[in-house]
Amino acid sequence: MPQQPVRIAPSILSADFARLGEEVRAIDAAGADYIHVDVMDGHFVPNLTIGPMVVKALRQHSAKVFDVHLMIAPVDPFLDAFAEAGSDIITVHAEAGPHLHRTLQRIKALGKKAGVSLNPATPAKMLDYVLEEVDLVLVMSVNPGFGGQSFIESQLRKIEALRKSIDKTGKTIDLQVDGGIDRTTAPRVIAAGADVLVAGTATFRGGSEAYAANIAALRGGA
Ligand code: DX5
Ligand code: ZN
Repeated sequence: MPQQPVRIAPSILSADFARLGEEVRAIDAAGADYIHVDVMDGHFVPNLTIGPMVVKALRQHSAKVFDVHLMIAPVDPFLDAFAEAGSDIITVHAEAGPHLHRTLQRIKALGKKAGVSLNPATPAKMLDYVLEEVDLVLVMSVNPGFGGQSFIESQLRKIEALRKSIDKTGKTIDLQVDGGIDRTTAPRVIAAGADVLVAGTATFRGGSEAYAANIAALRGGA
């Protein structure tokens, strides 16, 4: 299906972890479309963040779409726990295991939307035989593991390629981009075909008073 309206998914990786519930309520009120949760295992990526218990605890703070980005390997043993915790979209990395198709089927069998993410070095064609199975494609525009990194320019070409492939399917598939998204890169990734923008640093800068304006600016409305 063609590009959908732009949606903003603040990454709570840049929130104040001592006040996570409050932060989730604040970005919900400020106009976030998805709540993006970055799950890291210290193995697939060189950082550790949060697990299903935290997702479950946050769930009561917002009715918005919980968009859970799993940067973990193996991933299959944890799918049920993240589904039960209240995830709406579960995104896994194509590089995280040998049986991506099986993993996506399992997410769908759990009644959740299935997303697949590509690291910067992974080609778009990795998805040729699974694209019709997914609800979301996530292009990593930084190497996953940390917030606050610089946007990798080559990923614009990958977004353009995936835009064409998604349009050809005729299906409703989100094309999400994650990493280094700010007021400068947002219009460029939208022009390339992205329709869901993940933003950590650019959402949470300036404190809660600034969240609504930050989100509106990324969407292109300010
Ligand atoms: C990186 C995470 C991102 C990250 C984005 O591994 O997947 O979601 O938080 O952070 P910014 O927007 O600061 O680049
Ligand atoms: Zn992420």
